[in-house]
Amino acid sequence: MNHLLIDVKCADADTKLKALNELKNVCSQCRACELAKTRTTTVFSDGSPDAKIMLIGEAPGADEDASGIPFVGRAGQLLNEFLQETGIDRQKDLYICNTIKCRPPQNRVPSNEEKLACQAYLIGQISIVRPKIILLCGSTAAQTFIKQEFKISMIRGKWLNIFDNIEVMAIFHPSYLLRNHSMEQGSPRWLMQKDLENVKKKLDEILTKATI
Ligand code: URA
Repeated sequence: MNHLLIDVKCADADTKLKALNELKNVCSQCRACELAKTRTTTVFSDGSPDAKIMLIGEAPGADEDASGIPFVGRAGQLLNEFLQETGIDRQKDLYICNTIKCRPPQNRVPSNEEKLACQAYLIGQISIVRPKIILLCGSTAAQTFIKQEFKISMIRGKWLNIFDNIEVMAIFHPSYLLRNHSMEQGSPRWLMQKDLENVKKKLDEILTKATI
């Protein structure tokens, strides 16, 4: 997807917000796939348009479909706990969105057609926000950018070279962690904690560089 990014370099926060609102408006009326028939509302984003980190999840669930805000259900609450623990501010440091913007019935995994129909919104969001770090949260988000076969447990936690000037890391999806409670060393929750600590370290480096 790298070559598809539009260069909106150096845009200030207000310009980004305006561009994102325009895209959100278009998205809210989208009928490009069948999910338009069953959604309550499109779920575009949460957090700051000027954030250094963009977190991309899978798709809205029931709570998100009802509220129009990504990651507000149980998975989102668990994500919030991890963010708080590592000192990452959800509203200031993060721009949160999903691979697709409408809830699939029964929360099934989005189809390739649905992902393709929604791709322009995601590319638009990345192009406008221009984050320094992208977190691919779970297999669906990771598969959108990494074409070869992989298991999320094998690639998570590594900095990936996918986009120029954007550090990319795949992390576990919090829904998976809701089914895995252990915090023992080496457990999925323990690894998530370590990955986000690494992300926070990278964020601090980026912020320090920006002020020098
Ligand atoms: N899971 C996701 O991937 N995204 C959400 O917004 C909520 C749950």
